[in-house]
Amino acid sequence: MSGEFVGSLDCGTTSTRFIIFDRFANIVAQHQIEFPQYHPEPGWHEQDPDEIIQACEDCIDEAVKRIEAAGYPKSSIKVIGITNQRETTVAWSRRTGKPLARAIVWADSRTKHTVAHLISALERDGLDLGHGRVVTGKEATDQLQALTGLKLSTYFSGVKLRWLIDHHEAVRKAHEEEDLLFGTVESWIVYRLTDRKLHVTEVSNASRTLLMNIKTLQWDPVLLKFFRIKSSVLPKIVSSSQVYGEVEHGMLKGIKIGGLIGDQQGALVGNKCFHQGEAKCTFGTGAFLLFNTGNDVVKSNNGLLGTVGYQAGPDVSPVYALEGSIAVAGSAIKWLRDSMYMIKSSADINTLAASVDTAGGVYFVTAFSGLLAPYWDPAATGMLIGISEYTTPAHIARATLEATAFQTYAILECMQSDAGAELKQVKVDGGMTNGDIAMQVLADLGGFTVVRPEMRESTALGSALLAGSAIGLFGWDINKPETLAEVNTKGHTDFVPRLNVTERKKRWARWQRAVERSRGWDD
Ligand code: G3P
Repeated sequence: MSGEFVGSLDCGTTSTRFIIFDRFANIVAQHQIEFPQYHPEPGWHEQDPDEIIQACEDCIDEAVKRIEAAGYPKSSIKVIGITNQRETTVAWSRRTGKPLARAIVWADSRTKHTVAHLISALERDGLDLGHGRVVTGKEATDQLQALTGLKLSTYFSGVKLRWLIDHHEAVRKAHEEEDLLFGTVESWIVYRLTDRKLHVTEVSNASRTLLMNIKTLQWDPVLLKFFRIKSSVLPKIVSSSQVYGEVEHGMLKGIKIGGLIGDQQGALVGNKCFHQGEAKCTFGTGAFLLFNTGNDVVKSNNGLLGTVGYQAGPDVSPVYALEGSIAVAGSAIKWLRDSMYMIKSSADINTLAASVDTAGGVYFVTAFSGLLAPYWDPAATGMLIGISEYTTPAHIARATLEATAFQTYAILECMQSDAGAELKQVKVDGGMTNGDIAMQVLADLGGFTVVRPEMRESTALGSALLAGSAIGLFGWDINKPETLAEVNTKGHTDFVPRLNVTERKKRWARWQRAVERSRGWDD
């Protein structure tokens, strides 16, 4: 049989998948693997970079075998894209190509003392802007935000890299001897798939490092000096859609790599949020609401981040986004399953939560590694409150779903105020959106309409669209959204808010009290 397809390698936090799409975004074949997570100390979260690669290669092999079994040669795959968990930090040796340490995962909060130290250094000693100009205090904090769009937080990869250089002997030595290479996960995967030919990072991933200037899209010497990181460790920044090179070994040998994108930005593209004002929220390990702000970076006054959405070609202006990041969403369900043994499979949370009408007064602040937007408190810890003898696992299951809904609402409020626009509906995707009850809870407590597309492998689809667009496959061109009109036209299910406003406000006020109590616990 003949056919033309595009492949997408989606390396998320807890699992990797390789999905092969046709021109309409129908899934022709796919394979998914969960890979090991390591939590050696409270707040620490690591992955083995070699195990990440192994999972990627196994997924590719299996999915390709499946299309071959269906009668298509592997050459039907014309190009592949890669999308990834974003701030996870990999350090490896230029000389050997081997990892020097386990990867520090984006949600890891071990760097909270590093961050406290950096914040006081920023305020006290200031930021050296060059030409003898040093700004201190609030001016320095504002300048850092203006340069990066970000906050100085444990979340971002530049801070994790600083920690590795300070605390891991092999990394420190490699940095000193110019043997160190740094990359986020897409950078590491490309390095390995191209047999070490390419050391690149994609611009939306680079915009999560605290080292890139969000306007010039280049590594910024002011930031490198502040974080004391040598430019020799850094990959070349590339756009989200161009032919970077070819896969050099394995089942996909000779196939072009044409798209790279951070997974949350990938979902923005996959949901076709190409116009200013369009937003999506992906509920995976964490939950991430991104709002397209067009070609302008919008400064948040409410604890959100300015980030690169995507850059659809090397000579094209980037599209920016405002982002609200929630560290824990699906991972709380995984915790109920794997550590509390409350459910057997993640999907069971829906049946359990649906067996009660409310959380019975229980609130679960899922601050497993501090709280990200809009609270930004690395010292907040997980907290269950409102428990009585009346409480059952069903109430806790429901409170777990409600925690994500409350945090999404907190972000939505900030986004509306930063963007000056009301968001009445949000497109959603990600594993947690499979449950109707989870979606109804989100609509009820969030007070907005939840629009759930039928085909919601949006993250993977985003990188497939960027890759296809790079070679003009199917006539796709991300810069001309009308060329994608036939992509993913399957329907959607809408969940409208049913809870009355008084009750919603009452529960929201309680949630805010619960958050206050969880803050600063682990200082
Ligand atoms: O910023 C972290 C994010 O990229 C992780 O995404 O899909 O693994 O929850 P996910």
